[in-house]
Formats: sequence, structure tokens, C-alpha cells
Amino acid sequence: MSAPLLEIRDLHLWMRSFEGEAHVLQGVDLQVGHGEVWGVVGETGCGKSLTGLSVSRLVPSPPARYGRGQILFNGQDLLQMSEAQMRPLRGGRIGMIFQDPTTNLNPLFRISEQLVDVALAAAAWRLELLGVPAGASAREKRRAARALSLEMLERVRIPDAAQRLDDFPHQFSGGMRQRVLIAMALIGRPQLLIADEPTTALDVSVQAQVLALLRDMVRDFRMTVLLITHNLGVVAQACSHVAVMYAGSIVERGPVQEVMRRPTHPYTRALLAAIPRREMARGALEGIPGTVPDLIHPPPGCRFAPRCARAQEGCRAQVPALEPVPSALAAGAGHEVACFHAHPVEAAC
Ligand SMILES: Nc1ncnc2c1ncn2[C@@H]1O[C@H](COP(=O)(O)OP(=O)(O)OP(=O)(O)O)[C@@H](O)[C@H]1O
Ligand SMILES: [Mg+2]
Repeated sequence: MSAPLLEIRDLHLWMRSFEGEAHVLQGVDLQVGHGEVWGVVGETGCGKSLTGLSVSRLVPSPPARYGRGQILFNGQDLLQMSEAQMRPLRGGRIGMIFQDPTTNLNPLFRISEQLVDVALAAAAWRLELLGVPAGASAREKRRAARALSLEMLERVRIPDAAQRLDDFPHQFSGGMRQRVLIAMALIGRPQLLIADEPTTALDVSVQAQVLALLRDMVRDFRMTVLLITHNLGVVAQACSHVAVMYAGSIVERGPVQEVMRRPTHPYTRALLAAIPRREMARGALEGIPGTVPDLIHPPPGCRFAPRCARAQEGCRAQVPALEPVPSALAAGAGHEVACFHAHPVEAAC
């Protein structure tokens, strides 16, 4: 088996605020193979964005402080890299799409200028992106970057792209701005795309279109993806694998179908039970009792124990590690769970 493209190993992150220092990532472990599309799901505040931002090394430090852990990308530890070494990776080998398209495009610059800038920055390290010879002048490069920008706008299906290229962001709808951001993230032909809630700010019908577009682009560009979302429906539609996060740790992970069919961690089961289904009786929707723990004074042992019906004494003493789900072992399915009392149960959905 080839080495994973991205391997996050035992990543710990603390965040300082007025109230104290919160242990926001507690031993995150994730291996993302070439061509896999991983969904990262969990309730608000569980550390999804900080995991994605850590891979791009965009977590401001201070207030952040990394403890143990490594983030290996193509075998190199990103946490050991200097800012100068990181710069060509961002927008180059690692593309990013963030949640809110209104804050990610600069309102003062035309779409063309913003796309051309990203293309030129990526081409500074990989000139072949522009398809110009090594001795090309700045003007030739700019012309090629503009042609590439137009091609990308067409690929993300902006109607009349040639006419729209020189428009300002406010002249686009929310769904179109998100398409522009996808074009911008992909213009440097990244190996890894990190998409943090790429469809959350959009209305439902546009969400589905943007998701379908993202899926086509991932297939066409043969990308590996980390798709951060709180929506398990999005994961089921778009991902090959899923990692479920709770209070700073991955509590269950594996191939999407396996995890959805046999959710094993009580938290994953609670998340699935909280999704409304058509055949459900009125009032049958279950919430998850209790609240996400305070990460400045986290509970000892398993952080889900205070909300868990299965919790016993041992759960409050020790942090469970990710282990293969017993019944999945025979299938070699790569389904793992961090729970001392894991019993897979066939999902009702
Ligand atoms: N700059 C910051 N300073 C202090 N604490 C922070 C900072 N950024 C995030 N946190 C804290 O870290 C924890 C994880 O935050 P993160 O943004 O990764 O959550 P998330 O899973 O992406 O949530 P959401 O679904 O709401 O986007 C939260 O408790 C949050 O309050
Ligand atoms: Mg987030």
C-alpha cells in the first residue's frame, strides 16, 4: 500500500483566550490516501476547522500552541516547515475553500485580478501551469494566467464567463461566488483540497449544485479532499471516507458506507439519530443530551462520557484509543472507533 498523501499523527493544539488555555485538539489521528475524499464531521466547536487550518498552517500562533504531533504531507512534516517553505504549498499543492464566500473574495478587486494573482503565485513554483516557456516575459505570463482564469471560470460553469471575468464580487450571487472560490482553489492544481463547509452559507438548491460541481472537479482533477462539514447528508453524498470528531478528537473513522451502516461510537449513533428521516413518526427525532464539554477544564478520560449512556467508571479514567471495530476486522474495512464499549449496531437509515 502506498504511503498516505496526508497523515495527521497525534496532533495536540491549545488555544489561549481570556478564560484560560483550551485543549482544542486532543490527539487527532487521520490518514488520507491518494484520491480519497474524507468528510470530517462533528458538532460546532469540536475542532474541524482547526484541523483543516492546521494542515494549511493558518492557525495564528499565538494564541495557538502545538504540543505533540505531526502533519505529514507527502512524508514531510508541515509543522516543522518555515513560512517560506509553506507559501508555495498553499494555493499550490494544497488548495483551500473556506466557509463564507462573502469574506473570501476581496470586494475591491475584479474576479479576474484575484484569479490571475493566485495563478501567478502558483506558477512562480510550477511554471508549467501556465503553459508558457521558461523565458516567458511577465506580460506573457499574465496573459496566460488570464486565459487559465477564464478556463477555470468556464469549468465551474459560470455562464458567459468571458463577460463575467472582469466583474466585481458583488455582481455575483452567493452560489456563483462559491463557484469562483472553487475555481480559485483549483487553479493551482492542488493534490489536496481542504474545503471547510463549502456549501453551508448557500440555500439548499444551490448547495446541491455546488456539491455536484465539487464532486465533478474532484473526479476530473483526481484530487484528494478533506471536506469539513456538520452535515452527514453531505458526507453520504460526496465522500468515500468519514472521520467523526468530538471535542477535539476523532472518535470514529472509516469508509463512509461502513460507518453509516454500522455506526459504532455512541456519539456517531447519536449524530445519525438526530437526522430527520421521511418515515419518522412526529416527535421521534432525538437530540443529544447534555452539551459539548468545556475544553479549558475537559472531563477526565473519554470526553463523551458525561453525555454517554454506556459510560462506566473506566471511561472517566482513561482516554480510549482508535481501534479496529471488532466485527469489521474480518472484512478488513478500516473501520475504527475510540470507545471502551463499542458495539456496532445496524443503522436505521
Ligand atoms: N482563534 C481562536 N481563539 C480561541 N479559541 C478558538 C479560536 N479558534 C477556535 N477556537 C476554539 O477552538 C475550538 C474548535 O474550534 P473550530 O473552529 O475548529 O470548531 P469547528 O468544529 O470548526 O466548529 P464549527 O462547526 O462551528 O465551525 C472551539 O472551542 C473554539 O471556540
Ligand atoms: Mg468550523
